[in-house]
Amino acid sequence: MMNICIVVGTRPEIIKMSPIVRECEKRQLNYFMIHTNQHYSYNMDRIFFEELQLAEPKYNLEVGSGTHGAQTGKMLIELEKIISKEMPDIVLVEGDTNTILAASLCASKLHIDVGHVEAGLRSFDRAMPEELNRLLADHLSTFLFAPTKISKGNLTNEGIPENKIFVVGNTIVDATLRHLKIAQSKSKIMEKLNLIESGYLLLTLHRQENVDDKDRLEKIVTSIEEIVKDFKLPILYPIHPRSDKMIKKFGLKERLESNSKIRLIEPVGYLDFLVLEKNAKLVLTDSGGVQEETCIMNVPCVTLRYNTERPETVEVGKNVIVGVETKDVLEGVQEMINKELGPENPFGDGRTGEKIVDILVESY
Ligand code: UD1
Ligand code: UDP
Repeated sequence: MMNICIVVGTRPEIIKMSPIVRECEKRQLNYFMIHTNQHYSYNMDRIFFEELQLAEPKYNLEVGSGTHGAQTGKMLIELEKIISKEMPDIVLVEGDTNTILAASLCASKLHIDVGHVEAGLRSFDRAMPEELNRLLADHLSTFLFAPTKISKGNLTNEGIPENKIFVVGNTIVDATLRHLKIAQSKSKIMEKLNLIESGYLLLTLHRQENVDDKDRLEKIVTSIEEIVKDFKLPILYPIHPRSDKMIKKFGLKERLESNSKIRLIEPVGYLDFLVLEKNAKLVLTDSGGVQEETCIMNVPCVTLRYNTERPETVEVGKNVIVGVETKDVLEGVQEMINKELGPENPFGDGRTGEKIVDILVESY
């Protein structure tokens, strides 16, 4: 019987792999999970296992944080021990983190097939660690599960043979559709934070190129100060631990906290976050998953970056890429804030997990 190894490490990987785990459980397939523990804080890790009702991973590598080399290297050492012992038929990885670089490299060197979920995304910016991770993982993979035709095109342009590529949508749609209704009935976050629908903007920020660069982070802070002034709406900011560390380091925390219209909170769980996104007047972000979710849930999105590996969200008119300069950010918010959004969802029908598992079952 086929043996599937599912590797996760960070918040978005846990969320986006959950539909595949669920499908393996439903079909009683032989699978096991490895968690590198790249993310380990309760609200970046455990809370998602609880809310998504995922079983404990068979292995937890407890790798934690570090420089790119140290973190990836520790993962490789530990993964090699486990994968060479278990010898699964396939190792599934998701997205573009250091976890997937380590897992795809380890498995392919052991001559084990790699399946890359969310293959073919390209920002065409190799200064981003994620771009290097996804490029390398794609070229090491046997099965490339591309979310859209655009991502498939990126792969064929790099010479990856068509017969390895499967356009299946993105599992984020499965997860969003499954959990939004549950979230809306269970979550008490709106009451807890005393928020009303469309009465606030939501901000997330964690890209290395935005938050580790003092000049750029200062520009973003200035931009959000100007937004709350011009648009007369408060901004809610569940702060990623990387950003929290950097705004403290650059002395920006007091400035943010002293503005009564900017509200910083700890990162929230998935159910609360879906509700916060759905009810926001507009979302400002540099997250990949948040660009997708806002597109799926028809919430206007303004992306504080100079490129996106999710051009589909822009094509359907639900996202604009504005960078970090205040004038451009304000223009983007102005353009999007009252925009009527169509129902188009480029990321699939919510059956991506099922399709991926169908392909695996047919192949082994
Ligand atoms: C990582 C991924 C990024 C992904 C993001 C999802 C890489 C290169 N980056 O970025 O692609 O979009 O996860 O959120 O793989 N920290 C904590 N607690 C945690 C995790 C991190 O406090 O549970 C802090 C530590 O100070 C750490 C910093 O955040 O040094 C950065 O964590 P790291 O995993 O290196 O990168 P992320 O920015 O989370
Ligand atoms: N998310 C969450 N709580 C938060 C912020 C984000 O549950 O406070 C979820 C969000 O719904 C999405 C995912 O985290 O599914 C996005 O992860 P992140 O932005 O960290 O990473 P990226 O998608 O950029 O890799």
